[in-house]
Amino acid sequence: MQAINALARRVPTGVVWAAGALPLVWVVWAAASNQLGPDPVKAIELRLGLWGLQFLLASLCITPLRRVGLNLIRYRRALGVLAFLYIALHFLAWVVLDMGLRWDEVLRDLWKRPYIMLGMVGLLAMLPLALTSTDRAIRRLGAARWRALHRLAYLAAMAGALHFVILVKGWPAEPLLYAAAIAGLLLLRLNGLRRLAA
Ligand code: HEM
Repeated sequence: MQAINALARRVPTGVVWAAGALPLVWVVWAAASNQLGPDPVKAIELRLGLWGLQFLLASLCITPLRRVGLNLIRYRRALGVLAFLYIALHFLAWVVLDMGLRWDEVLRDLWKRPYIMLGMVGLLAMLPLALTSTDRAIRRLGAARWRALHRLAYLAAMAGALHFVILVKGWPAEPLLYAAAIAGLLLLRLNGLRRLAA
């Protein structure tokens, strides 16, 4: 653990940003070279959503990991902002590439399909987090209010995971595992808060 902490102190956050951009570079390259199969729009949309969920999950793991001695806290902001960027692109891929900016259909789908509504809840919950991710915004809000606001990350993750669970047909393991992991992190967090309050 100490060796990983020492390494994390030396590896700049720029490395996380650069690594985080790789999936996007890959998907653009794969789309441009026709490697995304028969439905490239769907493939782009699904991949962006999945990466968004993975970055969100990774960002939520940072605090519990610190409690067991693994300090990756300096990468948390990059992971959270990357999650937001991938989810925002996932949303844009749906609106622009899939729905072709037909706003009447966008609104109809939003009301008709609960999984789209849940996704929207996730995206909207992440918006204030992304907007307050700069040092200036954190200073202006103050640490306590910033921390309270950042509980929205759990709402975003739960909404995103449920969105994934209900959009797939049947009960495949993958979305359930994401939902279970996020529910577990939320329970850990509530437990931590209760201990602080006691
Ligand atoms: C926190 C927010 C969100 C997360 C974590 C998320 C995540 C995901 C994931 C993991 C998938 C499935 C990927 C796969 O099957 O490999 C997916 C699919 C999808 N998402 Fe999201 N998403 C979010 C928000 C949104 C929003 C805001 C919209 C649109 C308003 C949206 C629309 C869709 C659509 C249309 C699909 C494809 C459904 C299909 O298979 O036809 N998502 N999303």
